[in-house]
Amino acid sequence: MSSPTRWELLKDPAEVAQEAAYRILRAAEDAIAERGVFRIVLAGGQTPEHCYSILAKSEAEWSRWQVYFGDERCVPPDGRDRNSLMACRVWLDHVPIPADHVHPIPAEKGAELAAREYEPLVRSALPFDLVILGMGEDGHTASLFPCHEHPADELVHAVHHAPKPPPDRVTLSVAALSNARQVLILITGASKRPTVQAWCRGESLPIMSIRALTTVDILIDKEAGL
Ligand code: 6PG
Repeated sequence: MSSPTRWELLKDPAEVAQEAAYRILRAAEDAIAERGVFRIVLAGGQTPEHCYSILAKSEAEWSRWQVYFGDERCVPPDGRDRNSLMACRVWLDHVPIPADHVHPIPAEKGAELAAREYEPLVRSALPFDLVILGMGEDGHTASLFPCHEHPADELVHAVHHAPKPPPDRVTLSVAALSNARQVLILITGASKRPTVQAWCRGESLPIMSIRALTTVDILIDKEAGL
């Protein structure tokens, strides 16, 4: 049974960031109240950076958070293109989340080895409480790209020849990203408008494969708008 997808149109990237941060903090409160832990998967790319900077200045029961990554580029841990580096620089290094509660994908080891090492960690974390995703202009999400085939039984894939550099990456699978109570997708900017329109026309895009156990919520600004 597919989960409902809800679109919310917001004024601009700042409003998307504020609404996303609010929903993340609320999801954390609910998860911690119900289960004593909050398991979140972070998006990479640029879109979530403002939201992460708001979280850096927010109050939360940080010691109850477990942080995973939806994908990672195969670059050194201190490489400027590293998704985990951005999240730490902007947010995670500024709040008291225990270091062993932040689980970067060891993509510097190479895509295959990193995927093999990350898979048991993902398996033991499922279901996630919240997955945060962005969307590329070609409709990719995490590092799930159009025309890329992956074994259906994997929770974590090695990616090569990615059309968005760098070519080698590691990504959680559709199955892993969809094994989440909630999914929150952040889309901003005029460059995403044609892709949003293709989505609304029902064209087949990798991001459209993502489901959730309850809801998939999409926060979109007017520039990318419906
Ligand atoms: C990555 C991201 C990727 C990103 C989209 C959108 O590693 O590149 O995980 O999936 O979310 O490409 O990127 P922007 O937010 O920078 O537009």
